[in-house]
Amino acid sequence: MSPSEPLDFGHPEWFAPPDDARRFYWSAQSAGLLAGDEFLQLSPDDLIADFGCGWGFVGHLLLPALPRGRVDGFDLDEAALALGRQRAREAGTRRLRFQHGDITKLDDVDDGAYDGAICQTVLLHQSDPVAVVREMARVVKPGGRVVLVEPDHRLGWLGPDGLMSVEQRADLEAVEDLVREGIATLGGGDHRIGQGLPAVLHEAGLDASTWCLCSTAHRCEPPNDSPYADLLLHQSSRAAFDERWDGQHDLYRQAGGPADLWNRTRAAQQTIWAERRRLLLEGTYRVASASPLYVAAATVPATIRPSGGSP
Ligand SMILES: C[S@@+](CC[C@H](N)C(=O)[O-])C[C@H]1O[C@@H](n2cnc3c(N)ncnc32)[C@H](O)[C@@H]1O
Repeated sequence: MSPSEPLDFGHPEWFAPPDDARRFYWSAQSAGLLAGDEFLQLSPDDLIADFGCGWGFVGHLLLPALPRGRVDGFDLDEAALALGRQRAREAGTRRLRFQHGDITKLDDVDDGAYDGAICQTVLLHQSDPVAVVREMARVVKPGGRVVLVEPDHRLGWLGPDGLMSVEQRADLEAVEDLVREGIATLGGGDHRIGQGLPAVLHEAGLDASTWCLCSTAHRCEPPNDSPYADLLLHQSSRAAFDERWDGQHDLYRQAGGPADLWNRTRAAQQTIWAERRRLLLEGTYRVASASPLYVAAATVPATIRPSGGSP
């Protein structure tokens, strides 16, 4: 496997929908970068906090660099925590732990209890991402690292496969903007937060020392038998399409999005995805795509300045 290809976790069954897209985030090369001197600066026996751990994807990613260390995951979702414990058992490790906790206020965790803290695809769901980053900084000892891994989901869209006209793309972008506005209106987060991380870090009283854009480019080429082709095939099913669009309709309406734009765009995208599916099943679809993640790392100072203060 080339170092820039998606990382093989060795558990393909862990990536059944809805986790299927996650496996494409990290290559061996970028996972090494994350653990190394520029980002988490892991030592073999470090204790790391994973904020909003879900089922522990990040813990499994870091484990090879922590042969005597541990990752404690915190989440409010009991089902995800139970799945995390099960997957840790399946992987034969006791070095991943899962605890119930609100990552804006981990009352049971002492100041400076961890060597480092990380979150991945978590801040985009927060109405107050600054509160989470401040809590990450609180639980990490001075000199330790806080690492944020957050996406800009808009960049991941499929487009340059020749199936979408300029007008259809403009419609899709307008719908996406309104969905984003709807999420914000309801107090949700911002699914393009990757680009906003400098402001979030500043508000939290930290200054990021290192940044990178992490992504693997996934390819789909004839005969369309790659894992990415399988993912697209899943996404192109009518059920997955309907679930995606139905799930966003209330958010769109919340922002006052007009019905004609929604109906026109949904109908066009349905036709486009049906054509993608036909090509995938025929084994002739060609596209490359990516799920870019912005990665920022800051060192926790001895004293964290107040929100928004100058460095
Ligand atoms: C998109 S998932 C990411 C999971 C994991 N970091 C990963 O990369 O697979 C976001 C997670 O953040 C958790 N979460 C969101 N807000 C939280 C809060 N206030 N306290 C604890 N967990 C939270 C959710 O329950 C969910 O499991």
